[in-house]
Amino acid sequence: MSHEQDVTRQFDTVAARYEKSPIHADGPDLPLFRAAAESLRPRHALDVGCGPGHVALVLAPFCGAVQAVDASFEMVKIASARAASAAPANIVCQQAAAADLPFPDASMDLVTCRFSAHHWRHLSSGLQEIARVLRPGGTFIVTDSVAPDDALADTHLQTIELLRDTSHVRNYTVSAWMAVLALHGLMPARTDHFRIRIGFDDWVARALTPSARVATLKDLLRNAPIEARDRLGVLEDGSFHLDVLTAQCRKAGA
Ligand SMILES: C[S@@+](CC[C@H](N)C(=O)[O-])C[C@H]1O[C@@H](n2cnc3c(N)ncnc32)[C@H](O)[C@@H]1O
Repeated sequence: MSHEQDVTRQFDTVAARYEKSPIHADGPDLPLFRAAAESLRPRHALDVGCGPGHVALVLAPFCGAVQAVDASFEMVKIASARAASAAPANIVCQQAAAADLPFPDASMDLVTCRFSAHHWRHLSSGLQEIARVLRPGGTFIVTDSVAPDDALADTHLQTIELLRDTSHVRNYTVSAWMAVLALHGLMPARTDHFRIRIGFDDWVARALTPSARVATLKDLLRNAPIEARDRLGVLEDGSFHLDVLTAQCRKAGA
């Protein structure tokens, strides 16, 4: 199975769980997307890796039209059903990969992407596509979980993420994000940082992690070195904390 097939297999299987997940349906970063759309009033907006449509639904009242794309067909189905019963009726959902967006150059005023990029095979290819479809002077807003700068804690985080869900590629550090955004002419104008508690039982249930791997995860988290446990804020029941970045960027060139 290729990585792309693993992503669609994983998210097709668990799509409905992400509609209800509190972190996704109601995260602390979501108001930033709403505020940006309210102030920018874009004619054309695009949400990449839309999942069940949380960001698209938040943007829609302030946009002329919203396109929402996701690699998973089941996610697109849920996002489409929610969009159909929302007002205004200005959201169009379709299956597409971040690295191959079905939109013309410079056709979007606002592009968003939330908790998706850590699953992409090549982060840079997706950002290149986003920069291509965004008009000069347009806005890109990305939220993603980020890696600690500390190598030991980073290794433990990537390991538990992969054991939980094999479609995980990696969380990038904040400095890696800043560098790759700038490389594609997406200049961060504002960054916000959050630390969110990840409840262990909900986290593995949401991904349908097989029970043998749940046992390995518990063992790994329990026996991780104290430095890694402290940095990741690991609790007695295996719950831990993730650092999250929201970067609001302006595409150079207007
Ligand atoms: C954790 S969910 C987040 C969904 C949504 N953005 C939200 O905020 O709830 C990640 C989503 O990214 C999608 N995804 C992963 N890799 C992708 C890619 N290369 N292109 C498009 N979508 C992708 C998955 O199918 C999944 O729906």
